Amino acid sequence: MYQTITSAYIEELRQILGNEYVLVDDEALQKYGHDETEDLQFNPEVVVKPETAEQVSQILLLCNKHDIPVTPRGAGTGLSGGALPVYGGIVLSTERLNKIIEIDERNLQATVEVGVITQVFQEAVKEKGLFYPPDPSSRGSCFLGGNLAESAGGPKAVKYGVTKDYVLNLEVVLPTGEIIWTGANVLKNSTGYNLTQLMVGSEGTLGVITKIVFKLIPYPPYDLLMLVPFFNAEKACQAVSAIFKAGVIPSCLEFMERDAIDNTLKYVDINFPIKDEVKAHLIIEVDGNDMDVLMKDCEKISEVLEQFECDEILFAESANQKDELWRIRRAAGEASKAHCIYKEEDTVVPRAELATLLKGVKEIGSKYGFRTLCYGHAGDGNLHVNILKDDISDEDWNHKVPEGVKEIFDLCIRLKGTISGEHGIGFVQKEYMNIPFNQTQLELQKGIKKLFDPNGIMNPGKIFV
Ligand code: LAC
Ligand code: ZN
Repeated sequence: MYQTITSAYIEELRQILGNEYVLVDDEALQKYGHDETEDLQFNPEVVVKPETAEQVSQILLLCNKHDIPVTPRGAGTGLSGGALPVYGGIVLSTERLNKIIEIDERNLQATVEVGVITQVFQEAVKEKGLFYPPDPSSRGSCFLGGNLAESAGGPKAVKYGVTKDYVLNLEVVLPTGEIIWTGANVLKNSTGYNLTQLMVGSEGTLGVITKIVFKLIPYPPYDLLMLVPFFNAEKACQAVSAIFKAGVIPSCLEFMERDAIDNTLKYVDINFPIKDEVKAHLIIEVDGNDMDVLMKDCEKISEVLEQFECDEILFAESANQKDELWRIRRAAGEASKAHCIYKEEDTVVPRAELATLLKGVKEIGSKYGFRTLCYGHAGDGNLHVNILKDDISDEDWNHKVPEGVKEIFDLCIRLKGTISGEHGIGFVQKEYMNIPFNQTQLELQKGIKKLFDPNGIMNPGKIFV
């Protein structure tokens, strides 16, 4: 159904971009043929690196005319295979679309290209006293465009919201080559359908986002960080919703179960003594403008936690100690990957159901014979369930384990949650899309895809089977 790339197409791409930015060598095809998802590898036929929306437009025109699949790619840090060119064709890397165009201090907005690294952007706005909160663990390398495509979150989401909550307007190149803006640079907009939010989380299947207008907020100058050990992981999860009920909204509320902590400590090579009886940690941060208020918030949180049989709470005393705790937490995913092949499930439920979800995941793991490392954004009810391959046979890994995954997802739906909170569906979760959605819901979504991309050139093989 798709055309393979001929030397004539390569020549056309070179005309558009110049020789240097059209790559066909094995090393490049290998490099752009994987992201951070499992051990998956799908090489493209060619990698292109446009620098402008106009070049993107010309590339898409060519692809649309000749039925060539095109897979947009950010930094390749995705965990659901969104950037994998599963039908070959073109990988369109956004790495040269990397300019911060404007930080508008009057309106607390910024306009950027999609290939800006998330942390680079955060630091640039921080210099002006401004805050862009969404902070996926990969923020040191991931691109803002990829964050948008996958609707990424991160620890700050619990208080500040996820990527989508900061997007006001987008420049998008459609498969026809037309370049449109989706909305307006305003905080309120009730004008027609919300094309901006439709693009967020669309995983490169509708068009290529080239520019983003973000809203920003003032940077909160103070924070306090607590590390709370628990003797029972389910109790740690139960404590989470009680904190909010007591009237505090932490700026981060993260969970790590013991196995995930131990595995990560080994990976980051940090010696952090933990009692044998400790089964989980909560990492809780509060932030704001007034230190006295934050101290009172911590007191309130401590009172709540005591009811859930926690051990002695550690308050991070220095910036270094805070950095170390965050380094451990942020490395949890990478550490799982370094341990062995794993499947990353991005389960999410209403936060008061977190303990039930954790218990269910462990029971399902026992039933199907797999071990899980669980950690995640407890305040959002978002539990990353890393299923380890360990010594499971390929046969069981490919057939039996997915049955267990299905049961985990069924449980999420029963608890009124869903199957991905912030990693997207991409390639690896698409076979489970009939769990959260019925036929009508799926057909509506596929209809939207068809309207934007009638020839199916945009990142084929993603989201839907
Ligand atoms: C994290 C990534 C894996 O929470 O989402 O560390
Ligand atoms: Zn996460």
